[in-house]
Amino acid sequence: MSLYTLFLLSLFFTINLQVKALRSPIEIENFTRTLLNGFTPSNSPTPLPIEPTNTTSSPPPLVPALFVLGDSSVDCGTNNYLGTFAHADLLPYGRDFDTHIPTGRFSNGRIPVDYLALRLGLPFVPAFLAQGGGVQDMIHGVNYASAGAGIIFSSGSELGQHISLTQQIQQVADTFQQFTINLGEAAATDLISKSVFYLSIGSNDYIHYYLRNVSRVQTLYLPWSFNQLLVTTVKQELKNLYNANVRRMVVMGLAPIGCAPHYLWQYNSKNGECVKEINDMVMEFNFAMRYMVQQLVQELSDLSITFCDVYEASMDIMRKREQYGFKVTTDACCGFGPYNGWILCLSPEMACKNASNHLWWDQFHPTDAVNSILADNVWSGQHMNMCYPLSLSDMVKPNGEQSDEE
Ligand SMILES: *[C@@H]1O[C@H](CO)[C@@H](O)[C@H](O)[C@H]1NC(C)=O
Ligand SMILES: *[C@@H]1O[C@H](CO)[C@@H](O)[C@H](O)[C@H]1NC(C)=O
Ligand SMILES: *[C@@H]1O[C@H](CO)[C@@H](O)[C@H](O)[C@H]1NC(C)=O
Ligand SMILES: *[C@@H]1O[C@H](CO)[C@@H](O)[C@H](O)[C@H]1NC(C)=O
Repeated sequence: MSLYTLFLLSLFFTINLQVKALRSPIEIENFTRTLLNGFTPSNSPTPLPIEPTNTTSSPPPLVPALFVLGDSSVDCGTNNYLGTFAHADLLPYGRDFDTHIPTGRFSNGRIPVDYLALRLGLPFVPAFLAQGGGVQDMIHGVNYASAGAGIIFSSGSELGQHISLTQQIQQVADTFQQFTINLGEAAATDLISKSVFYLSIGSNDYIHYYLRNVSRVQTLYLPWSFNQLLVTTVKQELKNLYNANVRRMVVMGLAPIGCAPHYLWQYNSKNGECVKEINDMVMEFNFAMRYMVQQLVQELSDLSITFCDVYEASMDIMRKREQYGFKVTTDACCGFGPYNGWILCLSPEMACKNASNHLWWDQFHPTDAVNSILADNVWSGQHMNMCYPLSLSDMVKPNGEQSDEE
């Protein structure tokens, strides 16, 4: 990142903080306190009513709830409550969402977990910090994901506050405690073990840590051993979830970050060619995660877990872009500079007219159109099998039914 970009970023940060006076240090302090004491409703911004348009005629849900952990790929509003750069609560973010209102999702519309919630017969899952803390608010699931979060605690710290993976797991534990107190232990265990847990994290450990050589990490770790560090950490966190009775997990791999408009700009890409050294790291990470998930399948026999390779599925979309209906695979819809990857998406005027033509919405995040395809693939391998060994629809099938996937 050049000094000039950093300067622009800090300028934006300052303005952003001033405009949003409500995110004062006191409120941040209050937030930190609520993290420590368990969440209590405060004077935080009122959560938007986010319901799918019509659920009255839907069949009963396939699972009790969907719980989501991760980073900006699945944040649905956590960071609205934090003091950070990583915000998506202003237009044009959310302009193509169901409500056409920005929610904190880093997309023009929906994120993959929105599509998957509907597939499961559930309403959109609220952000942990946006709901009141009562069991009724959390009974269909909770989204703990926070933009900027990484597997390593300090990844993304330069952006400001975020809820790290370890903190998210702590919030899960708090939620489970609420369930146990309110529903009784047997019902809580039943709910938890039948629900789906979706984890999408790791990009920021590269974007905001390894690739920036924070704390000289590149001299301490070669890419492969850095991968191992990340994957070992995730494995431990997944085991912690297992020990809390979680039995259904979807683990997402990383997208081809080396094709993100930000890096096409930063590495002076010619003709939109992806940055190979970054994508090589992503592929190694995905390979290691997939192997780790296979190990868990063997180690924990009553665990249903699958790994979904977002890199493979995204490359398939890029290769067959016309088939999928995309025109632009390199430039972000919203941003400024080469590939619209130089400056963040800050205002509606910076956005293209039709985001559905584009793979990338902003310098790092895909469009709603891509999220929809990825969700279809996670659900049933509709366009391409990207989950190993199971698609989500197979995972949630009642016992005994076999799938007929090609
Ligand atoms: C912080 O919390 C205290 C007590 O919970 C409350 O009185 C105060 O208004 C809060 N301040 C902000 C800025 O949220
Ligand atoms: C939901 O859809 C059904 C039929 O598709 C319709 O009869 C009903 O009025 C709709 N409900 C709402 C709240 O829109
Ligand atoms: C990472 O930073 C350290 C300390 O500043 C430096 O010595 C090293 O060359 C850097 N590594 C790379 C690959 O840039
Ligand atoms: C936007 O682009 C998509 C995909 O190319 C196309 O199907 C759709 O009709 C376009 N919408 C508008 C309003 O032009």
